[in-house]
Amino acid sequence: MNLPDLKKAKVRSNEEVKTIKATNLKSNKFAGKKYYLRTYGCQMNVHDSEEIKGILSNLGFISTENYEDADIIVLNTCAIRENAHDKVFGFLGRVKHLKKEKPELIVAVGGCMPQQEGVANTLKEKYPFVNIVFGTHNINDLGKMIMEGSNKQDIEVYSIEGDIYEEIQYKRDSKYEAWVNIMYGCDKFCTYCIVPYTRGKQRSRAMNDILEEVKDLKKKGYLEVTLLGQNVNAYGKDLKQGYDFATLLEEVAKIGIPRVRFVTSHPWDFTDEMIEVIAKYENIMPYIHLPLQSGSSKILKLMGRRYTKEEYLTLYNKIKERIPGVSITTDIIVGFPNETDEDFQETLDVVNKCKFDGAFTFIYSPREGTPAALIKDNIASEVKEERLQTLNTIINDYSLEHNKEYVGKTVKVLITGYSDKGVDKVCGYTETMKLVNISGAKEDIGKIVEVKITEAKSFSLDGEKIIFSNI
Ligand code: SAH
Ligand code: SF4
Ligand code: F3S
Repeated sequence: MNLPDLKKAKVRSNEEVKTIKATNLKSNKFAGKKYYLRTYGCQMNVHDSEEIKGILSNLGFISTENYEDADIIVLNTCAIRENAHDKVFGFLGRVKHLKKEKPELIVAVGGCMPQQEGVANTLKEKYPFVNIVFGTHNINDLGKMIMEGSNKQDIEVYSIEGDIYEEIQYKRDSKYEAWVNIMYGCDKFCTYCIVPYTRGKQRSRAMNDILEEVKDLKKKGYLEVTLLGQNVNAYGKDLKQGYDFATLLEEVAKIGIPRVRFVTSHPWDFTDEMIEVIAKYENIMPYIHLPLQSGSSKILKLMGRRYTKEEYLTLYNKIKERIPGVSITTDIIVGFPNETDEDFQETLDVVNKCKFDGAFTFIYSPREGTPAALIKDNIASEVKEERLQTLNTIINDYSLEHNKEYVGKTVKVLITGYSDKGVDKVCGYTETMKLVNISGAKEDIGKIVEVKITEAKSFSLDGEKIIFSNI
């Protein structure tokens, strides 16, 4: 995918990007000024936003939850489906009004959307009040762009990935759980997916750099790390150093941080060694997000997913057998071009066989520039909606069924903060990634505690902290 032909958009050559020395700018210029950051999309963006927060803090900004109070508004955008775009443009409409009242307000748009062809142009022409546009490969430029920025428009998006920058100064959202990038980009090119275009080709971080980061997090008291990548199971393939995700996972587990998680697992690269490592280490959490996308081998082929229905089921059953108590969630797309009722029934068949702990379900959204967008989107929108409803009903029933199995049991929960389910409630996740709301255990935020589950709902559990007593 080529970058838009924009006068101000600087398109760098690969060599040039490699020689750019990223800097961690520090300044008091914006001391006490406020930033409002809104993040769309996946965990990748959530973690990138921790980098953006680091950059803004280094310039003296402090955060605000109210965008109308802000001196700078930064949107970290997502391009995965059309509605992701709509949300961003919708919010920009409100920002436009604010900018009229507050002309000195700086507006920055970054993330996956500007990496798409045409988006920077649209921003330039239809949203001239946007001051700064940056992409996923040059988040580090944001500091420089803000420092230089007046009320002009500065668009800088790289079409080339460049080298991995290891000195990122994150401002992490939590003191207990941390995201750790193990790779950037994706080489899978599923036919419907924009990510390989917005994030570039797969680049794995060197194992040592990852292990050093995890050791540092442990030293700082973190209780949980989540290894992050679009396709973690393909970790290392591009490095050709002889190590893979199984090796990395084992080395991370040995560091001894109490909880190790990872997302996302592509079924195609999931090896037996990986399953063995997950089963072997108690601190690798028994939870796997294993996107299915479709249960029809015909549709899977059109999607370029590289596995059949049967291969998915075989892998699923193997994981369930070897890792007792494992919980498995998935992603499913309905309404992919040429998906017949029979194909959809195949998806339901897999769901009924696997009885997933949970699922993110989506209606297919054609993304310009992807191969699937060239196939005629020939499913009526009512049919897509109906399939989604049918699927969600079944998914939610299984989710509740799984949750009910927890009632009366004692589980370990890492309490991460206050719950939105009541003033004196806190919440956190079980090892199997079930959300638990717990009455009065404020003093336990930031601890792993034993909790007795008292009630099951479709999307969460209620519980009480176990009080040990000698009497
Ligand atoms: N790397 C992960 C997923 C990244 S995107 C993986 O391979 O599983 C998250 C989810 O969004 C995907 O799993 C898919 O279910 C959904 N998705 C991606 N592109 C989509 C599209 N064009 N329309 C609808 N859903 C899409
Ligand atoms: Fe997209 Fe497929 Fe890569 Fe996941 S594995 S990010 S769905 S191309
Ligand atoms: Fe969206 Fe980019 Fe993630 S397109 S889903 S934020 S990688």
